[in-house]
Amino acid sequence: MRKTHTNADMSHQNSLAYKIGDFFNSLKANGVKKTVDKIFQRVKYKIKGVDFSTQNIYDLTLTGDYKEHGTALVSTHKDLFAEVFLGLEEAVGKKIEKNIFLDYGSGKAGAIIHAKNFGFKKTIGVEFAKELHQIAEENIKKLALSNVESNFADATTFLPPLDVSVIYLFNPFDEVVMEKVAQNIVSLKGKYENDVYIIYGNPSCKVLEKYFTTLKQVCHQSGAMFHYYRV
Ligand SMILES: C[S@@+](CC[C@H](N)C(=O)[O-])C[C@H]1O[C@@H](n2cnc3c(N)ncnc32)[C@H](O)[C@@H]1O
Repeated sequence: MRKTHTNADMSHQNSLAYKIGDFFNSLKANGVKKTVDKIFQRVKYKIKGVDFSTQNIYDLTLTGDYKEHGTALVSTHKDLFAEVFLGLEEAVGKKIEKNIFLDYGSGKAGAIIHAKNFGFKKTIGVEFAKELHQIAEENIKKLALSNVESNFADATTFLPPLDVSVIYLFNPFDEVVMEKVAQNIVSLKGKYENDVYIIYGNPSCKVLEKYFTTLKQVCHQSGAMFHYYRV
């Protein structure tokens, strides 16, 4: 299992060379239509001033006791989100109740915005970098979305609401923080109002296997690995 790349420099993802490479990879993996759709989506966000760009976190204002344990911001793309959510339904073998979607390490609100557009009743993000949380709030406002909430907090201090149905983790932190977050999720077992599932993207530690039932481990089209669990 890959070691967590905490505080890594990910700014190369904003360079023109990276974007050109991404374009050709997308053409190869998804074909012309999906790639053109992806470009239109990006242009639409650009026009509205929505910012999902990659950003390092080491020079940001971080809250809590785990500043050295987090990864850089890389936002979940809309198409990847759709693929991953359908992957969860396939792993579970039925439609998921789209109650509350909770994202630990929510960055600029990429995943919580896509989840809301996907039909969740309410989506909640927890982000420990003040500047990213502020951009998240601006993004939500620019898209005029309701019931999408970004919270400025360390993930270990935020308990899931009892009506949560999906908890999302896009490789946000290492095993130290994951252990505490997993214990918080487990502490409410038996009290949740519906089945609760966890989606763990680009997994870099094995903590969740200890606490939850593994449903499936899938490598998606883009090459991203996702693990699905039942609480
Ligand atoms: C790979 S990004 C994922 C962003 C978002 N979930 C998405 O998919 O668009 C990881 C995010 O986790 C945040 N993070 C890292 N450690 C955290 C912690 N202890 N509490 C809350 N957020 C944290 C980082 O600041 C970063 O924005």
